Amino acid sequence: MASIKLNNISKWFGENHVIKDINLNIIDGEFIVLVGPSGCGKSTLLRIISGLEDLESGKILIENKDVTDKIPSDRKLSMVFQSYALYPHMNVFENIGFALKTSGINKEILTQKVNQVAETLKLKLLLNRLPKELSGGQKQRVAIGRAIIREPKAFLFDEPLSNLDASLRIEMRLEISRLHKKLGITTIYVTHDQVEAMTLANRIVVINEGKIIQVGTPKELYNRPKNLFVAKFIGTPKMNVLECTTINGNVYFIDKINKKTNIRCNNKDIQKIGFRAEKIIICETKKASFIGYAKFIEYLGAEQFIYVDVGVKENFVIVKEKPDIKVPLNQKLGLKISQKDIHFFSKNDTRLN
Ligand SMILES: Nc1ncnc2c1ncn2[C@@H]1O[C@H](COP(=O)(O)OP(=O)(O)OP(=O)(O)O)[C@@H](O)[C@H]1O
Ligand SMILES: [Mg+2]
Repeated sequence: MASIKLNNISKWFGENHVIKDINLNIIDGEFIVLVGPSGCGKSTLLRIISGLEDLESGKILIENKDVTDKIPSDRKLSMVFQSYALYPHMNVFENIGFALKTSGINKEILTQKVNQVAETLKLKLLLNRLPKELSGGQKQRVAIGRAIIREPKAFLFDEPLSNLDASLRIEMRLEISRLHKKLGITTIYVTHDQVEAMTLANRIVVINEGKIIQVGTPKELYNRPKNLFVAKFIGTPKMNVLECTTINGNVYFIDKINKKTNIRCNNKDIQKIGFRAEKIIICETKKASFIGYAKFIEYLGAEQFIYVDVGVKENFVIVKEKPDIKVPLNQKLGLKISQKDIHFFSKNDTRLN
């Protein structure tokens, strides 16, 4: 287990500035998830930490020791990739034990350690199988086993579950969470699946275009996103965001239906308001904060998403409701949102409240 510090990390690929002055302090034993859109630099940052990529500037400290110039094997970190990269001609036992075997460890201890790892990962009955005889989830467990057996100071995962089908992903997600609770090893985990990020992380790091946008617990990011990028990135469905103007402390949508709303504010710089789908209540039109017309309904069994046209161009408000509530389509629908659940954003998309 180790703390990891990133101080002013920058990286260029030719003309392309892919990592821009990143600073991050990861606490011993913490589970950190890096999220962000494709190409934002998540894998590159992970490869920099592991030592697979050089740095233009900045320092990396593991357990407060500068490892910036150290080769990967001296950093004692284990990386698990999206492609499992198992040795096809070796069985599960040999795959898991490979790194220790090449280090010249005594055969008895090797067997003992492989068995221990196989026990932890529920692979004991599969030790004699070749990778081609395993399911995707089983292969991924072997890849994790290979990483664990080296007793690393930290795990680095790069989208380890993205090759798996939906139900296996959920199962493996729990497995990884359980493993982290059991072993307590510092973990940095890259994903673009924000559900994975929310469920696994102690803290989430949101990255965009090579820069850290916000660092915080899943709750902090969900409830108090620093700007619109984080507000829209974290949460399913996405936060509802509407353009508005403010006159004399009242919010006006730029639309035909809501000439005026019952939403008040005391900041005239507000240009957009945001609110989560589950915070909206359907109500009588005269008590509504604003009015719209239900256009589509997605029924999901345990809940339904109602897409409401509130007159803002190409922008539905999504309302999350219990599945048994009947909503008529194409008729006036009152929507209520309480003041405390509204996020206000400025012209440059930063949070104002
Ligand atoms: N070896 C390389 N040479 C040149 N450019 C690279 C190299 N590796 C990555 N890049 C570029 O660096 C940027 C960041 O890439 P990176 O792989 O870190 O993104 P990512 O956030 O992991 O994306 P994804 O979610 O798609 O995996 C991209 O613009 C990519 O094209
Ligand atoms: Mg990547």
